[in-house]
Amino acid sequence: MSQSTRVISPNVEIMPVSAKTNAQGHLIIGGCDTVELAKQFGTPLYVVDEETVRASANAFQAGLSLYKKSRPLYAGKAFLCTAMCHLIRKLGFGLDVVSEGELYTAVKAGFPADLTYLHGNNKSEKELEAALAYKGVKIVIDSDGEVELLASIARRMKARASILIRVTPGVEPDTHEHIKTGQHNSKFGIPLDHLEETVAVILKYPDVLELIGLHAHIGSQSHDLGPFLELIDIMADRFAFLKEKYGIELTQLDVGGGLGIAYTEADRPTPIYDWAASVAAKVAEAFSQRNMELPELFVEPGRSMIGTAGVTLYRAGHTKDIDGEASCLSVDGGMADNPRPITYQAKYTTCVANRMNEPPATKPVSLVGRYCESGDIIVKEAYLSAQRGDLIAVFGTGAYNYSMASNYNRTTRPACVLVYDSKAEVIIARETNDDLVRQDRTPERLL
Ligand SMILES: Cc1ncc(COP(=O)(O)O)c(C=O)c1O
Repeated sequence: MSQSTRVISPNVEIMPVSAKTNAQGHLIIGGCDTVELAKQFGTPLYVVDEETVRASANAFQAGLSLYKKSRPLYAGKAFLCTAMCHLIRKLGFGLDVVSEGELYTAVKAGFPADLTYLHGNNKSEKELEAALAYKGVKIVIDSDGEVELLASIARRMKARASILIRVTPGVEPDTHEHIKTGQHNSKFGIPLDHLEETVAVILKYPDVLELIGLHAHIGSQSHDLGPFLELIDIMADRFAFLKEKYGIELTQLDVGGGLGIAYTEADRPTPIYDWAASVAAKVAEAFSQRNMELPELFVEPGRSMIGTAGVTLYRAGHTKDIDGEASCLSVDGGMADNPRPITYQAKYTTCVANRMNEPPATKPVSLVGRYCESGDIIVKEAYLSAQRGDLIAVFGTGAYNYSMASNYNRTTRPACVLVYDSKAEVIIARETNDDLVRQDRTPERLL
């Protein structure tokens, strides 16, 4: 058996690796009965399967192990809380953050500064100061203006920053327009033909800025390997060019995240292990061909680390019959806890979690959310035979769900529970109505 068939890559499956059905026909995740989870913690509820996170981490590490100096960084934007910081630290990952809030979460969790990378196309002064104060955080530069700003802050703080330059390599993955980031006209990064100018700006500040590497992230939910391999050749060329022309020996190459997951049976993403092993082999080949020292290699998976681990549980509400046919099934959540369908026309797979042994419906219903938007549709055609009170599970909601959730219609954000070894532990508490009015202020004259 080859290594790739022995290592589980959860991103090719729709359900978490621990998903089972018990004798009563209930969906079990992490050894926990989802019917009991819904009773205990309420709905909507985000359930995160730790075994799937562990298996995904293992697949990245097994793939990358062919390359000695490599480390995966978890992209916190997919889903972050202090428990997640602790878990990924235990799994040997570094962390990619994109805001003061994500950095603050990492600091609160005691995440090692030297394994933390700060991204963002418009980092504020406060964010840059926070990164410099947490000594060791690497800063991924996104524009010449940011280089100038960082240098002035670093001088004021008497700090020194280790930086990477994010480039837009002109490589486009096979994904939705809104989540492509590597194309020439992207708002992210520095176009390749501008790289020399950015380097020149950095070289003006040798006392406070140390250029250590290049970074690129070409997009998200990409199934194919090809664009990543193309990217690596482009990056290796830039390493060689900067060494030849300026004598700069960069030591870090970060090729970003972007590997997709299977949301429906139609999705066929490259398995994590194969992706990581191919990326590692390609970097080794590309740098050897150019007679270059191998850099430290970083990858930044978000979705493929946490997406498949997440399942959202909803309580079924009313059905609406149109012309005698059930056409809509409403649930108690929707676009505020999962904005991906309305934002990207994202597709999901769903089931009736308390009646897993029953055959699916022969006619589809639209699984719709409870929010005041006609576009609040979670799954357009779901083959669910469910009634009011049933428990509906939506798979693949671990990434870009909680982290993109809102309080639209003044609803509270759901709780998030981590399940593992038949135990369920709250890692983010459900918001309360008091949380919703906490920041409200009423001018005296209106009282
Ligand atoms: C710089 C950077 N790294 C990593 C990621 C993670 O991407 P994904 O969740 O698709 O793996 C993103 C996502 O937008 C990103 O912008």
